[in-house]
Amino acid sequence: MKRITIAIDGYSSCGKSTMAKDLAREIGYVYVDSGAMYRAVTLYALEHGLIAPDGTIDEERLRAAMPDIVISFQFNPERGRPDTYLNGVCVEDRIRTLEVSNRVSPIATLGVVREEMVRQQQRMGQEGGIIMDGRDIGTTVFPQAELKIFVTASAEVRAQRRYDELTAKGEACNMEDILRNVEERDYIDTHRDISPLRQADDALVLDNSHMTIPEQKQWLLREFERVVNGGKSGMSGDSKISGLSGTLK
Ligand code: DC
Repeated sequence: MKRITIAIDGYSSCGKSTMAKDLAREIGYVYVDSGAMYRAVTLYALEHGLIAPDGTIDEERLRAAMPDIVISFQFNPERGRPDTYLNGVCVEDRIRTLEVSNRVSPIATLGVVREEMVRQQQRMGQEGGIIMDGRDIGTTVFPQAELKIFVTASAEVRAQRRYDELTAKGEACNMEDILRNVEERDYIDTHRDISPLRQADDALVLDNSHMTIPEQKQWLLREFERVVNGGKSGMSGDSKISGLSGTLK
């Protein structure tokens, strides 16, 4: 069976990576969390003093450091998904802190960072059989992807999900800060000059505000099967699958 390319884009904290990694496990594809790559660059920049306390980025030094930033993934059977490695060291936990979340969007706007990440991502997807999630996967990284999904959910629902995730890990946080962070990141992600977050014309839209994880999984699997069985990526770009609209069987 042909091994296709699946691009899943959408806003932060809308459950893209949960969907993507579950499908990858089910169908035996490689899963790549492209946001983790921008987070790893941010962690590197923080740890090397390239981000001042007021948020100013030392772009010249970051540009010079880019060849020294090598990001890779290694499957972790305990978590059932790949861990992120920065220069050979596992940074999976350290890239998920609020400090990195607060600093990552401006890093991800920089051309020098994006060019290098997109190059690495395209190399990872050369053979097909890959599911990558992010912001520009269906538009810039793999515009030829056979299946493209654009995921969305309300900012409040996404902030609550992030809050639950951080508190489960024992990290101190409050809802107001998180909601502000989600909204700020939405703004930066959709307004940046290079590869802003936007729905590809041929993407299916999934609003999962009121969907459970198993429901999303079932929906995605069905779309995958439809595409590999010769169907088109389906409905037109403005088709919407929203919550429990009766489209789930
Ligand atoms: O998905 P995430 O929240 O882990 O992404 C972290 C940041 O990286 C977020 O601000 C958007 C950015 N990003 C991006 O610009 N392009 C991608 N393909 C993936 C993430």
